[in-house]
Amino acid sequence: AAAELAASQEASLYLVGGLVRDCLLDKTPKDADLVITANAIRFGQDLLQGTSYKTTLHHRFGNLSADINGFKLDITTARSEVYPAPGKLPEVGAGDIKADLFRRDFKINAMAISLSQQNSGCLVDPYDGLTDLKQGKLSVLHPKSFQDDPSRIWRALRYSERLGFDISAETLALLKRDMQLIPLIGADRLRYEIECVLEEAKPENIFLKAEETGVLRYSLPGVKADGWLVGKFAEARKIYGTCIPRVIYYCLLSARLNKLQAENLVTGLNPGKYITGCLGDYRYLAENLPELEKTGLRPSHLYKILVKCRKEARQSFYIASDNPLVRQNISLFEEELSNIKPHLKGADLIALGFTPGPAIQTILRELLFLKLDGQLTSRADEID
Ligand code: CTP
Repeated sequence: AAAELAASQEASLYLVGGLVRDCLLDKTPKDADLVITANAIRFGQDLLQGTSYKTTLHHRFGNLSADINGFKLDITTARSEVYPAPGKLPEVGAGDIKADLFRRDFKINAMAISLSQQNSGCLVDPYDGLTDLKQGKLSVLHPKSFQDDPSRIWRALRYSERLGFDISAETLALLKRDMQLIPLIGADRLRYEIECVLEEAKPENIFLKAEETGVLRYSLPGVKADGWLVGKFAEARKIYGTCIPRVIYYCLLSARLNKLQAENLVTGLNPGKYITGCLGDYRYLAENLPELEKTGLRPSHLYKILVKCRKEARQSFYIASDNPLVRQNISLFEEELSNIKPHLKGADLIALGFTPGPAIQTILRELLFLKLDGQLTSRADEID
């Protein structure tokens, strides 16, 4: 249907980018990108007419995205791009498929498969991406690629790890030449790249590459990727499996930062309210470390320290801690103390003659603390 529709609009239609690469590598693609030499929004709307798939229009770049039962389809008009300055978004002009492929990051991502009726299935590979693919090599199309878009530096590290490809010597030299431009992409685009890294199977290996090349210093100042981080990321995955919340990784990345560096991490990535809150809780736990390292703490005291934090911050702190006493205290809270509740409820207190209001909360808290410390064992004790 897509090929017929494209023919009726006298346009050529192509599959491009990651899907072509992944199909040639026999891997399952994550999403599909189509390029058409016509108005992509009109083509997409005609193609999806009568379906209930959710679509989003991006008028600036003239493209349409659709969610096909969880699989993302992106349809773009073939275009050429000129970058006005490093890190800025490109200015877009008309272009054919060759120009469209030339605007892309790496040769392996600059191939297309024609879907047009006359040459359906033909590979379009003007920059010889297939050779790189066969040699397990990653290289940019031109020397200004990382200057045009410094976020591609993180993409290079990510693909290199995911596909097990080597970054070519020329591309590596360009990456090192241009990595100082990374801060120009701004917090939101950098966060997007870092979160793409965190979605990979072993993000720690990508951070190791970033450390080795120097990219990490220009992206997340103060963050260290080394054996410690590798061990902690792996331990976190053992606990959470593949559905690990990314906030855990964030906390582990921030674990060895000082206060100022941790604040800069938040400004540098602008990770949203919840993650920022967890990172704040993590710092609070770090400041309370001397207490958390003690044995025989009064349970109510331990409870008061830990109850203030989000669960993910506590769990990250547990993983990051190399001190068994800290781990023991956090486990005690998670497994026992956090489940303890007084027998009496607010309604019971009111029935006993207390006036409704904030005092009820205070009494319930005091009852809880006494119960945590073993001073109240029964409902009758609480009433007394
Ligand atoms: N692209 C680019 N420069 C970027 C981002 C994307 O040139 N900074 C191009 C690449 O050709 C890429 C395509 O846009 O293949 C689609 O981008 P994206 O969906 O991010 O990448 P995929 O290649 O689909 O890879 P992934 O498997 O990680 O989704």
